[in-house]
Amino acid sequence: CGIVGYIGHRDAYPIIIKGLQRLEYRGYDSAGIALYDGNAINLSKTKGKVEDLKKKSEEQISTKGSLGIGHTRWATHGVPNDVNSHPHYSNSGDLVIIHNGIIENYESIKKELIIRGYTFHSDTDTEVLVNLIEEVKKKEDVKLGKAVQLALNEVVGAYAIAVFDKQKPDEIVVAKLGSPLAIGVGENEFFIASDASPFIEFTNNAIYLADEEMAVIRLGKEIKLRKIKDDAITYPNILELKMNIEEIEKGGYDHFMLKEIYEQPRAILDTYRGRLRTEQGLIKMAGVDEHLDKFMNANRIIIVACGTSWHAGLVAEYIFEDLARIPVEVEYASEFRYRNPVITDKDVLIAISQSGETADTLAAIKLAKENGAFVFGVCNVVGSSIARETDAGAYTHAGPEIGVASTKAFTTQITVLTLIALKLAKEKGVFSEARFREYLVEMETIPAKVEKALESNPLVEIISEVYKDSTNALYLGRGYNFPVALEGALKLKEISYIHAEGYPAAEMKHGPIALIDEQMPVFVIATKLGHYEKVVSNIQEIKSRKGKIIAIVTEGDEQVTELADHVVEVPETFESLTPLLTTIPLQLLSYHIAVMRGCNVDQPRNLAKSVTVE
Ligand code: G6P
Repeated sequence: CGIVGYIGHRDAYPIIIKGLQRLEYRGYDSAGIALYDGNAINLSKTKGKVEDLKKKSEEQISTKGSLGIGHTRWATHGVPNDVNSHPHYSNSGDLVIIHNGIIENYESIKKELIIRGYTFHSDTDTEVLVNLIEEVKKKEDVKLGKAVQLALNEVVGAYAIAVFDKQKPDEIVVAKLGSPLAIGVGENEFFIASDASPFIEFTNNAIYLADEEMAVIRLGKEIKLRKIKDDAITYPNILELKMNIEEIEKGGYDHFMLKEIYEQPRAILDTYRGRLRTEQGLIKMAGVDEHLDKFMNANRIIIVACGTSWHAGLVAEYIFEDLARIPVEVEYASEFRYRNPVITDKDVLIAISQSGETADTLAAIKLAKENGAFVFGVCNVVGSSIARETDAGAYTHAGPEIGVASTKAFTTQITVLTLIALKLAKEKGVFSEARFREYLVEMETIPAKVEKALESNPLVEIISEVYKDSTNALYLGRGYNFPVALEGALKLKEISYIHAEGYPAAEMKHGPIALIDEQMPVFVIATKLGHYEKVVSNIQEIKSRKGKIIAIVTEGDEQVTELADHVVEVPETFESLTPLLTTIPLQLLSYHIAVMRGCNVDQPRNLAKSVTVE
């Protein structure tokens, strides 16, 4: 979910609506807003997108006032409908709240409150929380800030909340545990949001609350932070943000996803810029350099991630083992955290996350740290929870990724992980100086080669037209390109809702081959260096069962080109770097098919960009 709030001298309504639109990547089942107009609270909420909320609120409520909060939801408790949308009132109608996260013990609290005469209108855990705050406030006769603090001490779960009281409309109380919350600090005005994008055009100064921290944001006052549990005062660290507004707008493309696909040459370059120093023959990465002994002495590397980031982890497994000869295990964070894994202080855990907020990945990190492992983060969002929780890390410099289907985050994650593997290969003496330098030089050709791969766009569009009505699709690859097959399939199902599976090409004969008939498009990654002859045999097996073959091949390919129904060429590079190129046509393909099927590319149904619940 995404939350936004404003208190100051401007009209809150346009700031909140625009802010919610920027945060829609965090969920878009329903949206709502509550504004204080100097006299009463005007609240409007609806199932659907922020655009629907905008229509509804402009028809139905006064949008005046310079205090307000808004929410865009990704449902956890209760179906997405008008009633379950946030904000939620307390029973008296004085308090109003927005919440991102989950209150796990809400049912027992709700029972207690019902006994005390409270009534509930929604199925949400949030409505329970706001009434608990109201109850504590009355019972203990305390101010709102104190009531929030006491109530949160009874709560188990995760939250980022903002709440205000119509009887005291000069303050908003916010608190955080597990879900992100940033405060934008302006000239006698304050912004609240899940990330800085809603307020970056008004102020560059931001405070990121830490876990278990809360703040009373009062007009005319300095912000005071305190710890929810022990009441200790903490001092706000005001960061100066460098993000600019163009970076988070579409810049002429029809969709964020397409813009982000096209940004990859630049994003990859930005990610290795300054780190890869060909002339000096070295790779400089502060997070690795400062902890080199941890990597050098590691018995193994464990990689944890979710979704597309997990696929980047799988590519990294091939790279680390092949180039640096370090054993690697790759795990879904959600599985790792609950399966009582064996972790020792000889392990290095690498957590990969675009958002840096994924709840399961964050929990896996905490578990690894508790067991003494050294934890390294690969995140895109600067200052995110994972970036802060890890012992060290390296950012991907992809810039904000807004499209829910991850593209440039994936290729920049692979870039960072490749740099680390190369560095370790050299340090360990697996690579000679000459081999290392060859790699540095080749890495530097990648942005131009990605650019070349993007030139396949018109051809990919034609191919998309042919297969857009398929109900199933199979993606095959071997070695370094097996994870690319998985990622290709994930992209297609995420945004076009076509069922797709990725498989190691040779495993096909142990199952998926039964699905192949003349209706079935099979996307095969068949680049020259990746077990080419073996993939050719796999292609023949598909062909003899009348499957349609769309192959991603190396420029100048002849053998596969003979056999396949369609081929898309990518430039030649080292085998370990091919995923950075072969993934490009597959991203474009899922994009075009989704557009042709009339799907919402940037906001596919049921998904969210940042999954802050487990
Ligand atoms: C969600 C997103 C995916 C993303 C995954 C992991 O499912 O829709 O695009 O790959 O979360 O997110 P992270 O931010 O940890 O990389």
